Amino acid sequence: MHQARIIGTGSYLPEKILSNQDLEKMVETSDEWIMTRTGMKERRIARSDEYTSDMGYKAALKAMEAAKISPEKIDLILVASITSDFVFPSTACLLQAKLGAVNAAAMDIQAACTGYIYGLSQAKAYVQAGLYQNVLVVASEKLSSIVNYQDRNTCVLFGDGATACIVSSSGKGLMIRDLKLGADGQLAEVLILPAGGCRNPTTLDTVNAKQHFLHMEGKEVFKHAVRRMEAALKECLDKSGLTEAEISWLIPHQANIRIIEAIAKRFAVPEDRVYLTIHKYGNTSASSVGIALDELLREKEISQGENILLTAFGAGLTWGACVLTQVGSNG
Ligand code: ACO
Repeated sequence: MHQARIIGTGSYLPEKILSNQDLEKMVETSDEWIMTRTGMKERRIARSDEYTSDMGYKAALKAMEAAKISPEKIDLILVASITSDFVFPSTACLLQAKLGAVNAAAMDIQAACTGYIYGLSQAKAYVQAGLYQNVLVVASEKLSSIVNYQDRNTCVLFGDGATACIVSSSGKGLMIRDLKLGADGQLAEVLILPAGGCRNPTTLDTVNAKQHFLHMEGKEVFKHAVRRMEAALKECLDKSGLTEAEISWLIPHQANIRIIEAIAKRFAVPEDRVYLTIHKYGNTSASSVGIALDELLREKEISQGENILLTAFGAGLTWGACVLTQVGSNG
């Protein structure tokens, strides 16, 4: 069986910064509330003419450059997003055209904030099965297009951004060692975009009722997030036969610093080994753990044999965890 390895990563964050001070002028909130309740200081916002596929394209170019791979060598493109350019065709197809990846099949994945980890699992399965050699996994979100900037419960939480990686059957990089994915559709309503699908097609009424904005029952989501990510991490570690002491870095979904701290405490991972981007990018949904992974790899040297743990949680509900192990070019 082939191994599946992340051999290059890249990210893109829009230039425009939306700070807590900016938000104070938009809704009844304060820098102090946002910092203490979420750990967020600022987030990035895409230009009005900058779309999910554009951000994904920029992240993909960086990942391909890092992996030293040309577009025609890519044989599958997977894009994870809840803010696709269109309902259809897929953002993956738009990206395939932009990249000139003429030999690639393309499809989207919808697993909300867990999209990147779901993407890694699909890439791993295809590569290990020998069906594809080079899979481009992209997560890209323009959450600002579905956030109601009059609703303080949600508008302070989200930001835009994209991330990408190349998963290959050979090369130096991070082996996708073990994964644990989960879902609970019974709780679909607690985090939802109520209209725009076939159940509530767009009408004047759905627009007036603000049903095209993200709706979240924060407290409920919080509770499940901690429980599910904790369990997924544990199962993932058990599967890989690793102990917590053997984990160099933990990269949790960047949704709330209190959720991250609760998970880190349960896993006895030292504070300085929990990688954070939440203060500067907020929650970028599917892109969140991928952006953090890319920044970690660009900042720190990861030695052969070191392990990185990813975990995420999002709408669906969905959750997942993944162990990555640094390997050399010959394994
Ligand atoms: N500024 C000031 N006050 C606020 C704000 C704000 N931005 N937002 C809410 N409040 C108020 C509320 O109105 C409430 O006031 P009240 O007590 O008078 O009613 C009070 O603060 C407390 O509100 P809670 O909702 O109880 O605040 P909580 O501590 O739960 O924090 C939060 C809310 C940050 C949303 C938290 O619940 C959370 O992070 N939930 C999880 C989010 C998550 O993990 N998402 C992941 C998936 S995202 C995806 O898939 C797209």
